[in-house]
Amino acid sequence: MIQIENITKSFDDVPVLRGISLTVEKGEFVALIGRSGYGKSVLLRHVAGLLKPDSGRVLVDGQDLTSLRGRELEALRSRFGFVFQGGALFDSLSVFDNVAFPLREKTRKSEEEIATQVRAALVRVGLETSEDKLPAQISGGMVKRTALARALVMEPEFLFFDEPETGLDPLTAQGVLDLIHECHRNLKFTGIIISHQLPRVFDVVDRVAVLHNGQIRYFGPPDGLERSADEAVRQLVTGRA
Ligand SMILES: Nc1ncnc2c1ncn2[C@@H]1O[C@H](COP(=O)(O)OP(=O)(O)O)[C@@H](O)[C@H]1O
Ligand SMILES: [Mg+2]
Repeated sequence: MIQIENITKSFDDVPVLRGISLTVEKGEFVALIGRSGYGKSVLLRHVAGLLKPDSGRVLVDGQDLTSLRGRELEALRSRFGFVFQGGALFDSLSVFDNVAFPLREKTRKSEEEIATQVRAALVRVGLETSEDKLPAQISGGMVKRTALARALVMEPEFLFFDEPETGLDPLTAQGVLDLIHECHRNLKFTGIIISHQLPRVFDVVDRVAVLHNGQIRYFGPPDGLERSADEAVRQLVTGRA
């Protein structure tokens, strides 16, 4: 379970997060939506332990992430997986070696064990016949699938996505979202996804959080969004400014 408690964050005296509280239950998948530049990535980076808040805290299974340092922070973060914009693959490594990378870096598994796990992850994302290809030799959708496989191969309990479908055509973006949905159903990770794919992402998640002007203006099931009395929420969901 992730408990975000009253987080505030400013950059150069400009407030970005003005007191954010959210709870993501174990196994739950939450979408974080809002206009560009409103602090979605900043909020997710706090949850991932990459940024420290000015005030407030983030509890992960009761452990205060914001007060952990060094080895303790690393131990907690080893339970996290990330899929960020762009995919961020190593250009000179094959699909297989990209997915194997975290296993080789962070575990002491044998190459045989690693190969078994990498192939299982590649099957999960439908890339089992592309393991020898370089990132430049595969499509944008396949790059995202590889990034997803690389996150899944570590079997994270928590998985965070920052616009995983950015830069893809609508059909491919839908395919990536469907795949993430399927992975969540099968693996039951606790997840947060930032996405601009509205309303598509609503089919993938249990609850939606709307971030606007540094605050959460809606937090509830997707089907309650349209009934929100909040104008900012309605504008975002209907796409009318
Ligand atoms: N490390 C940083 N230093 C200074 N300003 C930052 C930093 N990270 C984000 N910001 C600012 O915080 C605001 C929110 O950014 P971001 O979370 O990336 O928005 P988005 O909702 O599009 O993901 C932006 O105005 C951005 O310029
Ligand atoms: Mg962002």
